[in-house]
Amino acid sequence: MEQKFTSFFLLFCLITISICHADPEQLQDFCVANNPSTDTIINGFPCKPASSVVSDDFFFAGLSQEGNTNSRFGSSITAGNVLSFPGLNTLGLAINRVDIAPGGVNPLHSHPRSSELVFVMKGNLLVGFISTANKFYSKVLGPGETFVIPKGLFHFQYNVGNSTATAITLFNSQLPGVMSAPFGLFGAKPQIPMEVLTKTFQVNSSIISVLESNFGN
Ligand code: GLV
Ligand code: MN
Repeated sequence: MEQKFTSFFLLFCLITISICHADPEQLQDFCVANNPSTDTIINGFPCKPASSVVSDDFFFAGLSQEGNTNSRFGSSITAGNVLSFPGLNTLGLAINRVDIAPGGVNPLHSHPRSSELVFVMKGNLLVGFISTANKFYSKVLGPGETFVIPKGLFHFQYNVGNSTATAITLFNSQLPGVMSAPFGLFGAKPQIPMEVLTKTFQVNSSIISVLESNFGN
């Protein structure tokens, strides 16, 4: 009996793993999201009635302006995902604009649901990620060059040039999700217990408190 259950469970896992690549396949031409909001508790968003879908539902001008890089990291990310561009619903795609001032960084983060292509439009960016073997892969990119960040891995972009750099980032998910290293670890609510952070990073609580005051709200 137990053996039967184990075989069934293994088969179930295999089937689940084999169908779980990026976002699920779409079931119709399109499904423009009807008032997308993170409060909606289904996998994706309900579709607008096809009769009220118009050309503008497939258009997004949100990436046409340079973002304000006058921030603590010297960078700005403008997101084109299903929340800002409802026409992406069910299409398994998203697009961001990344603007970074000289010396600025898009700090370490990961996307739990997507790989990422980084395409540099102008300037020079050091782009890097860390693998699960703790190996660091990186490259300095110039205009027209591309780097790929595999799904779920921590990565960053850092402006090594002396003018503002702009990149377009592309995702195989309508909502890639972002795990920010600094805000996730030191700005979580409620806070991660101090003992966990001091033991994890092998430092004393005063160092953790500085990081929490930098990244907590
Ligand atoms: C860049 O890493 C981005 O997530 O847009
Ligand atoms: Mn990213």
